Formats: sequence, C-alpha cells, structure tokens
Amino acid sequence: MTEEELRALEAAYCSWGDAVHSADPPKIFEWCQGCFLYDSGATAYLDLQMASATASFGYRNQRLIQALKARLDQLPQLGSHYLHADRIEVSARIARACERIFQRKGRVLFNVGGAGAVEEAIKLVRNYTGKNAGFAFMGGYHGRTLGTSAITSSYRYRRRYGHFGDRAQFIPYPYCFRCFYELKRESCGLYCSRQFEKLFDTEYYSVWDPRAQECEFGAFYMEPLQGTGGYVIPPKDYFVGLKKILEERKILLVDDEVQMGFFRTGKFWAIEHLGITPDIILFGKTLTNGLNSLSGLWAAEEIINPKVFPPGSTYSTYAANPQAMALALEVLKLLEEEDYEKKVSDKGTYFLGRLKELQKKYPQIMGDVDGRGLALRIELCKEDGITPNPELTQRISQEGLKGDLETDGKKYGLVLNIGGYFKNVFSLSPSFEITRDEMDLAVDLFDQLMQRSLR
Ligand SMILES: Cc1ncc(COP(=O)(O)O)c(C=O)c1O
Repeated sequence: MTEEELRALEAAYCSWGDAVHSADPPKIFEWCQGCFLYDSGATAYLDLQMASATASFGYRNQRLIQALKARLDQLPQLGSHYLHADRIEVSARIARACERIFQRKGRVLFNVGGAGAVEEAIKLVRNYTGKNAGFAFMGGYHGRTLGTSAITSSYRYRRRYGHFGDRAQFIPYPYCFRCFYELKRESCGLYCSRQFEKLFDTEYYSVWDPRAQECEFGAFYMEPLQGTGGYVIPPKDYFVGLKKILEERKILLVDDEVQMGFFRTGKFWAIEHLGITPDIILFGKTLTNGLNSLSGLWAAEEIINPKVFPPGSTYSTYAANPQAMALALEVLKLLEEEDYEKKVSDKGTYFLGRLKELQKKYPQIMGDVDGRGLALRIELCKEDGITPNPELTQRISQEGLKGDLETDGKKYGLVLNIGGYFKNVFSLSPSFEITRDEMDLAVDLFDQLMQRSLR
C-alpha cells in the first residue's frame, strides 16, 4: 500500500483520540536502528525522544533482542499467578539496589504500562494509610487512566470524563525558570516550600487536623524531574525540606520514576540527586528498553509486606509476563556491567555543553537550556526571553519531521518531543548509546531548524 492509501485508511478507521494526529500529516515510519528512525524513502531521522524515553539502549539493541528471542523459544508465556526464575531475580535485583541506595528493605510488584504502576501505588497508599486523597504537583504527569488522571494536574485530561477517586491537591513544582510565585531562585529563600508548610498551620487551611495531628492526605505523588511537564529540573533543597514536612506529618512520598528511572538522569533513581528517600518508587519504560509494556513498583517493607498486602490484593494478566522479565533481567545486567552513572553523566555534560553553545546564537529564543544526565530541555521563548513560544516550537517539530535537512550531502530529519506547561519545551531523551558525532549532528540539525523556522 502507498503512504497515501495508508493515510486514507487511517483517517477513516482509526480513532483520532490518541496523539497520532498531533502531527499534520501523521508520520509513518518503517524501521529503526540505533538512534535513528527511517521512513519509506530511507531518510534517516535522528530521534531525540526514543519512543517516549523508553528505548534508552538504542533501537534494535541486539543483546536485548537476543534475550527476547531466547525467551520466546523457551517460556514465551505463563500466567502471572505462577513463578519463573527471571521474575524473582528481577525483583531481587531492584529491591537490592534500593536497599543499597536507601538502606531500606522493600518488595517489588509488577503491572503493565506506567499508569498501571501508578494505580498500584494508589492502592498501596490507600491500604496502608486508610486515606484516599493525595498531594501532587502542578505540571506532574502520572498517566491517563481514570485513577491516575485524578493525580495528574491537567484538567484537560479529566474534562471529558471526570475521574475516579479524590482529585489531588496540586502544589506548585519548584520550576525556577518559570516560578509560580514569580520569584528568583537567588533570592526566594524557597518561598514555595514555606507556602506548602503553611497549609499545616491551622485546620482552616483545609488539610490538617491539629487535634488529631493527622493529615487528610495519605501521600505526596511526585516526579524527581518532571517529564511531560517539560523536563523541569528542581533544586535539591526544596525536596529535602519537603521530605521533612511530610515525614513529620506521616505523609508517604511516592516517587514516580516511570520516565526518569534506570539512569536517565545519570543515577539509578533520579531521586538520588535530591538526597531524600521515598516510600514507594514507580518504574517502567527503560526497564525493558520499551520492548514490553512492563511497569512496576518498589515499596518499603511496612507498606507491602504480606501481612498488610496479602495474596490476591491485586492482579493483572500480563503483569509479570516472562517476555518482559527476560528483557528486564538483561537490562539490569547491562546496567551492572557498565558504569552507566559515568557514561550517561559524561554524555549529558557534552550534549548540554553543545546546546549551551548554540543558545549563545539565540540567547532570548532559547530561553532555558538545561539537563541532568541525558534528560535535557530546550525552552523556547519570544524575544523577551521569557514569554513561551509554542508556535515556534510546533513549527520546528513539524519541520524536523519533513526529513529534508541536509548535512554532508545526506538527507536527515530530526524527531523532537514537545512538552512543557505551555507546549514550548523540547524534552530530549536520547539513547544512552548516542555518540559524540550523533550529538554534534543533533545540534547542527536543530540549528538548521531554528534558522528555517525563524525566517
Ligand atoms: C512519570 C510518568 N508516570 C506515568 C506515566 C504513564 O505511563 P504510561 O503512558 O505507560 O501509562 C508516564 C508516561 O509518560 C510518566 O512519564
């Protein structure tokens, strides 16, 4: 079938309710390799979003594909109510990593899709604390199921359907480039943190009963670096303060690492950068390189031990499927064999340095360029250096998908993910295996797109 025929069929028979029609026309890709996607014309599109930050070890990573093939030949399927060795080993490796990092014993539970893991966390919190409501951050993203959209900030995701469960109380994230309180980090004295703590001063601020010394909210759901919110990198001090406020009031901290876990930021867990210990950690994406929809959580022993969370408390048919576990085990082995902390941090430093050089050419328009490991952001603004520029962001993204950029006589495209509170941020999650040449190519292609789109 030609692309035109495929597009006509898609327009007639596929729902438009998902995100495909954000691009006009929707893009069709045929194959992938390493850091590149290819269309039918064999144009190479350098991908800086890697299947929504899942394919961290590159597309068609042969070691992972071999692990999956071996599993297909041996135990391709098994009901999630039975055990197999890899499932146990994957759980133990993650739990031991948490023990080493946080000196805390815990257990691991699996589900499918990031939102599936978040749903499990909501259950654990409700079961353990007896409280339905939670705090969450403005700009936070935890999924689009009816349960998770109650703790994801955008009303847009709830407007058509409502939601199950108590809608979270949303608190401003420490997004210092675009401070909610319009303050400057150098002089704010963490005003936002004080504003949050003030909520507990009197019962009249709606969350705290001073007589019972009890909060109405069981947990605070947070991302250690906001993903969909536009790769917002928070200051460490804020979270050290937040953790203290929560601990003193017996409010659990749920750390959503679905996007940032497994070294995306240069640490096993991104929360390590913040110097605090969570009670529950959620993960997915990178754990299978995006080759399976596996997700899961780690929870501290007191929250998940078999006495408080007994057999049958939860279940999903594909939760711990053996194909996912073969991939996850191979990913965890990869992470143990090589120093990914150094690898990701070094590459991130190089890429950020190159992007900051480019920023000098467009100092106002590239209003903020920042990164932690290989989670990088470019926030585009108008000439005043602060007003969001979503139109330019959209134009650049569309131009990148045309595949008509040229370098050294070769045709390229650039695949960019748009995020951010105002849809004016490119959140970059390149492969951990990206080379310096590929990072240089990315900067060159982005520069070409800027020149073309600013005309
Ligand atoms: C931090 C975070 N949590 C949860 C989710 C939801 O994951 P899924 O789309 O697999 O349901 C995402 C997705 O991007 C995410 O970034």
